[in-house]
Amino acid sequence: MLNAAQICWDTDMEDVCSPDRRVLVTGATGLLGRAVYKEFHKNGWATLGCGYNRARPRFLCCNLLDEDAVRAVILRFQPHVIIHCAAERRPDVVEHHTEAALNLNVHACATLAKEAAGIYLIYISTDYVFDGRNPPYGENDTPNPLNMYGKSKLRGEEEILRHCPGAAILRVPILYGEVEKVEESAVTVLWDRIQDGMESSTVDHCQQRFPTYTGDVARVCRNMAERGLQDSSLRGIFHYSGKEQMTKYEIACAIADAFNLHRSHLIPLTEQPAGAGAQRPQNAQLECSRLELLGLSVEPTPFKTAIRKCLWPFLYDKRWRQTVFH
Ligand SMILES: NC(=O)c1ccc[n+]([C@@H]2O[C@H](COP(=O)([O-])OP(=O)(O)OC[C@H]3O[C@@H](n4cnc5c(N)ncnc54)[C@H](OP(=O)(O)O)[C@@H]3O)[C@@H](O)[C@H]2O)c1
Repeated sequence: MLNAAQICWDTDMEDVCSPDRRVLVTGATGLLGRAVYKEFHKNGWATLGCGYNRARPRFLCCNLLDEDAVRAVILRFQPHVIIHCAAERRPDVVEHHTEAALNLNVHACATLAKEAAGIYLIYISTDYVFDGRNPPYGENDTPNPLNMYGKSKLRGEEEILRHCPGAAILRVPILYGEVEKVEESAVTVLWDRIQDGMESSTVDHCQQRFPTYTGDVARVCRNMAERGLQDSSLRGIFHYSGKEQMTKYEIACAIADAFNLHRSHLIPLTEQPAGAGAQRPQNAQLECSRLELLGLSVEPTPFKTAIRKCLWPFLYDKRWRQTVFH
C-alpha cells in the first residue's frame, strides 16, 4: 500500500497557487494526461499528476488498481477536481488482455468515483462507445460499442455516474499530441511509413476519423473544471472533437503535405483486410453542441499546424524545412 506521507507535489506551486484550486490528473504520464497536467499547471492550479510505470521521477506513482493507494492520494491531496485520463486505450490489447483492461477501464473508475464525494470528477471517454453506423452522435444517443475497448469505456462511464452522479464524462475521438515516441498515438504512428518514403505502404481509407489535438482537449478540461467548480449542474455527458474529417490515408497524406514530404508511396486501402484486429466503427462522428452552447468549447487547432509541432522533433532532415516552418 502506498503511504500517504510519501505523496508530495510541486511545493513551489503550493506557495503561488490559490489553495482552492487543486487538480489530480490520472494518467499524467500518458499522451493526453501530459497535456492536461501542463494546461492546469501553467494556469495556476496546484497540480498533482499520477502515473504508474513511467511515473518516476516527475509524477506520483499510484496503481489505480490499489484501492487503498487511491484513497490515500485523495485524502492527502484533497483535490477539488480530478481529471481521470488513465486507461488501456489500445483496442487490440483490450481484446486480448480483457481482464487486465477491465480492471483499469472499469473497476478503477468505480474506485475513484467512490472516493470522489464533493470533488468535480471528469472522466475521459471515447467515440468508440458508438457503432459508427448512423453519425453524427449526440450526447443523448444510445451507445452500442463494437469492440471490448468501447464496451469497457462505456462500463467505466456507468461506474463513474453510478458512484458519482455529479461527475462529467468527456468523450473524444482519436487523439494526437506531443509524443515521446511516435507509437504513442494512432496518428503519429503513421510517421515512419511517411518519412521513410522508399517502400509503398497501404493505409486504411475506409473508416472516417476526426483527429483531435490533446492541447485542445486539455483546454476544454480546464474550461469545464473552472465552470464545474461554480456550477454543479455541469454534469453528465459531453462531446468534444476536431472538425477535420479524414481517413487514416488522408491523415497520412496531410502529414506528408505538412512537411513537404513525398506521398506517392502511400496506397489507399479501400477494403478492410480479414482478421485486422478489433472491429472499429465506420464513422463515430461526435456532435459537440452541448459544450459549444455552454461556451466551454475551444476552436480546434488546424491539423497541419498542430501535427507540425508534434512531429517536428522526429524529422530526420530539418535543414531546409527550417526556413519553411519556423
Ligand atoms: N489516444 C486516443 O486516441 C484516445 C481516443 C479516445 C479516447 N481516449 C481516452 O483518453 C484517455 C487518455 O488516453 P491516452 O492516449 O493518453 O492513454 P495512454 O497514453 O496510453 O496513457 C495511459 C495512462 O494510463 C496509466 N496507467 C496504466 N495503468 C495504470 C495503473 N494500473 N495505475 C495507474 N495508471 C495507469 C499510464 O501510466 P504509465 O504509462 O506511467 O504506466 C498512462 O499514464 C483514456 O481514457 C482513453 O480511453 C484516447
